[in-house]
Amino acid sequence: MTSTAMQIIASYLHLLAVAIYLGGTIAMEFVLGPAQKYIPPAQAQVVAQRSADRFLVLVWGSLALFPISGMLLFFSLGDQHLVAKGHFISSSYGQTLVTMMILWVVLVINGSLITFFLRPKLTRKASAGTTGSTMSGKIEEMVSAAKWIERITRADLVIALFIVLLGASLSYGNGIL
Ligand code: HEM
Repeated sequence: MTSTAMQIIASYLHLLAVAIYLGGTIAMEFVLGPAQKYIPPAQAQVVAQRSADRFLVLVWGSLALFPISGMLLFFSLGDQHLVAKGHFISSSYGQTLVTMMILWVVLVINGSLITFFLRPKLTRKASAGTTGSTMSGKIEEMVSAAKWIERITRADLVIALFIVLLGASLSYGNGIL
């Protein structure tokens, strides 16, 4: 495979991951979320649960695609000369790329918090013999988990938008940090 073909594939996959992650998050937050307020709460909960289950598959797929396509981009574009000879951390390009990777790790941590800690709290069913007070405790826990998911998702959106700026500064310059 020629290096141009590799660059096109790497760039295509990287931008596809951006489109899925950012486009999906914006659609969930600003289209589906507000629309759910107009349907009865029980139905809204089912829609929220089902759509989040499906969306999380896309989120994890795109989060996995970022470093694979990013590294492929880095090596196929021959950007190594910009960070070569031990100047990686002192160069603006190197600092911008490392910041991008650190922020990607933050997105992964936030995704893990939502998937493995907060979402299970939302989907936990009341077991037989649940009393009124434990039920209200469960509801409080669910409301708090839902609020945290919303806060983390908004933070992820801001972080991802900032990473796009960093990426563009790498592609069309030498980084901005
Ligand atoms: C470990 C994670 C990542 C790595 C290693 C990585 C690496 C790279 C590299 C090497 C480039 C090309 C730089 C150049 O042209 O010289 C790039 C561009 C870019 N990256 Fe990433 N990236 C990562 C994560 C992300 C994330 C999470 C996002 C967005 C949410 C993102 C968005 C972009 C964008 C928008 C560009 C510019 C593409 C273009 O203008 O064609 N990257 N990235």
